[in-house]
Amino acid sequence: MDKARVLIVEDEDIYRKIICNTLREHGIEVQATDSGEEAWELIKQQRFPVIISDIRLSGNISGMDLLRDAKELYDPSILMITAFGEIEMAVEAMRLGAFSYITKPFEVEDILANLDRMMLQQRSISDHLLPSNVEELSQRTGIIGNSKKMCDLVNIALKAARSDATILITGESGTGKELIAKAIYMNSSRKNKEFVAINCATLTDEFLESALFGHVKGSYTGAMKDKIGLFEKADGGTLFMDEVGDTSKSIQAKILRVLQEGEFIPLGSTDTKKANVRIIAATNKDLLQSVEKNEFREDLYYRLNVINIAMPPLRERKSDIPLLINHFIKKNNVKLNKKVIRIAPEIEEILMNYDWPGNVRELENVIERTMVLCSGNKLAKKHLPGCVLPQKGDIPPITIAPGTSWKEAEKELIMKTLQLTRGNKQEAAKMLGISLRKIEYRVKEWGIACASKANGD
Ligand SMILES: Nc1ncnc2c1ncn2[C@@H]1O[C@H](COP(=O)(O)OP(=O)(O)OP(=O)(O)O)[C@@H](O)[C@H]1O
Ligand SMILES: [Mg+2]
Repeated sequence: MDKARVLIVEDEDIYRKIICNTLREHGIEVQATDSGEEAWELIKQQRFPVIISDIRLSGNISGMDLLRDAKELYDPSILMITAFGEIEMAVEAMRLGAFSYITKPFEVEDILANLDRMMLQQRSISDHLLPSNVEELSQRTGIIGNSKKMCDLVNIALKAARSDATILITGESGTGKELIAKAIYMNSSRKNKEFVAINCATLTDEFLESALFGHVKGSYTGAMKDKIGLFEKADGGTLFMDEVGDTSKSIQAKILRVLQEGEFIPLGSTDTKKANVRIIAATNKDLLQSVEKNEFREDLYYRLNVINIAMPPLRERKSDIPLLINHFIKKNNVKLNKKVIRIAPEIEEILMNYDWPGNVRELENVIERTMVLCSGNKLAKKHLPGCVLPQKGDIPPITIAPGTSWKEAEKELIMKTLQLTRGNKQEAAKMLGISLRKIEYRVKEWGIACASKANGD
């Protein structure tokens, strides 16, 4: 561990002494005070890379005040100490940029583990200040885009990466939720530990519970031996919970427990296990609406949504399209062994005018498909899928033979309507008299709206 100066602000003598002694035993230079006022003077006089502060202090300046002001002055990593039952305050502290929090009574190991990661964070802050240009941004994150919306969002993500706060990423299918989750992980102090991802929508309750928390032999039919779960596997690291809005209430209660207490019980076991896991959750559902419908626990919603990253749909940041096209051309040149240099202005215009219901994933698929179909290294309009093209005249009528499955008929109807509205899902939903959500759900289920349809279909 680095020799560094840590400021400790704690008005309960016993806790202040425990922390001071532990840190000094580990060769860390420490300064300690029992007052918020004195702490603020010290913070203004010298630069503390790490601060450990009680949330409640007896004087006029509270730990929360120190957190807010110190973060503004320079960017120290701050660990907050809370009393039992102060969960709301702890969540608020995370929102204000605290690195993490621990609850009294705590173990000295908790302090040391956090301290290690705070030091790492400080090192990475001095190594990489927030990127100032688009190229640097994409190098650091793998995220392509120069629209203001994307740049702001990636900067928020990079700031969020510096804390251990839980993050909820929302956005339509294909907008890059998983990509940004990985970028956060790669830029966090946990980057050398595990990144484990799970899609909560694809498993039954029993399998999901077992996957997350593990199980003991015989806990259900087919559980032949003990198995550790992802929370244990990701201990010290990051767990990406995709489609968290699709979990049942019973699983939600268990996730809440890990978030609140850092504890869980494997399926069929009576032993409680501990895990220190940073959670990044994602969903394309409107979770607040699910809370209103009583399908999602409100307390869990607030616990997950400490930092919210809302991925904008591609149609709201069309200026990113040219950069993305270039990026996918380069990627596919390697994959397909081609040498396409750039796209004709006519094609770019067509792609700029389309609404992209399947977002970046759809654009990626359209570019790949077009590059597969093109002869040589020139992309032609005729290789673009029909639905991205401007519609001349009527869309060919739908012919559904009697006996066609309902699913097939529904697919045909929705696809053709999307073709008519050039990918505008809202308009298509209105025309069909169905909910926008249903169209979004189907678009996701089929991968994307139109890449499987050939030109002229
Ligand atoms: N800004 C971007 N720059 C480069 N590639 C991107 C960008 N956004 C998305 N992609 C690519 O698009 C594809 C879809 O992204 P991703 O899987 O992260 O989306 P998602 O929001 O998680 O979708 P879903 O809700 O369907 O799971 C991936 O191949 C990803 O690499
Ligand atoms: Mg995803």
